[in-house]
Amino acid sequence: MSKKVVLAYSGGLDTTVAIPWLKERGYEVIAFSADVGQGEKRFDVISKRAKIAGAKKIIVKDLRREFIQNYAFKALKAHALYEDKYYLATALSRPLIAKNLIDIAKKEKADAVVHGCTGKGNDQVRFEVTIKVLAPKLKIIAPLRDWELKSRAEEIEYAKKRKIPIEIKDSAYSIDRNIWGVSIECGVLEEIDKEAPEDVFLITNSIEKAPKNGEYVEIEFKKGLPVGLNGKAMDSVKLVESLNKIGGKHGIGRVDMIENRLIGIKSREIYESPAAALLYFAHRELESLILDRESSHFKNIVSQKYAEIIYYGLMCTPLKSSLDAFIDTSQTHLTGKIKLKLQKGNIKAASRESKFSKYNIKLATYGKGDMFDHKASEGFIKIWAQTFQGEIK
Ligand code: ARG
Repeated sequence: MSKKVVLAYSGGLDTTVAIPWLKERGYEVIAFSADVGQGEKRFDVISKRAKIAGAKKIIVKDLRREFIQNYAFKALKAHALYEDKYYLATALSRPLIAKNLIDIAKKEKADAVVHGCTGKGNDQVRFEVTIKVLAPKLKIIAPLRDWELKSRAEEIEYAKKRKIPIEIKDSAYSIDRNIWGVSIECGVLEEIDKEAPEDVFLITNSIEKAPKNGEYVEIEFKKGLPVGLNGKAMDSVKLVESLNKIGGKHGIGRVDMIENRLIGIKSREIYESPAAALLYFAHRELESLILDRESSHFKNIVSQKYAEIIYYGLMCTPLKSSLDAFIDTSQTHLTGKIKLKLQKGNIKAASRESKFSKYNIKLATYGKGDMFDHKASEGFIKIWAQTFQGEIK
């Protein structure tokens, strides 16, 4: 009897070539495709391709809602932003896909799971750490680290020899897309002295193409979670999809950065995350009304650590759960509405509103109705400064 494996199948060249490669090594292949909002990617087409390549069975699961609610929105509440720029779309999806790979492997009584990550990236770490923590005995196969194929051209050749039609456009870039954002690398982007060409961007307009007139969007939050758009209650998946469209139109959420990979390589990455950019902005704005100064400043430290946890593939660790407890407590009163103005790649707060707001105009005003005790400040400063004062000798 041949051994069974479950392959995390994206429908791209690498994982398609992995199917015959595994079969030739005596494995029966079950292809698993996770729908995390890859956009126009059609899963019937992907399934057909997996069949032609030799997969015994294809399983497609719509994980979009779970991805948004249990992964992306956790990052949002934490304001997790890797190296101050990356909204972590790819990184957030990996532990969810890994968790589902494990479940399917158990159900199918598979001998191993397979992923199509290279030995140079972060994704292999994210998949494998999740699997090793949750199912330490499960065998992991990473064909791209093992096989002798050295380039995309060699992979295409390998597929052609086995009569697997490769209609996949030999894209100049390596693209990973989900509902939280698009990650683009390779090709001309590796030349860091060159501006990214316009054709790398999939879901955002350039500033030049963005409409001259701005647009307002109002986002409603309940306990830190986005629940409504422009006055209407909205389901999480639809809300994120809508914000991607609106933000993309106005050229919002583009990032071009040199990033430090976990594996010790610096790489040039292009990201597009219009919805994430808008939601982070609005969420921060709401927090600025509600959190006290010390909680807010401390949360900034947590944000950085939380981003590292996601980026490093450590979402299934005790520290992540502990930080979640802190973040969730901080969100108890994060209820209200933020109206944003989007224009030519810019986001501005246009209006803020919350019944839990700690903003008190009677304390803040320099106009009429000032209730602040100006005299009391003298005493405050005297004691505050005392800590740091010394006689000049
Ligand atoms: N550098 C990003 C990360 O590690 C994105 C990697 C995405 N992969 C791709 N094929 N473009 O999360």
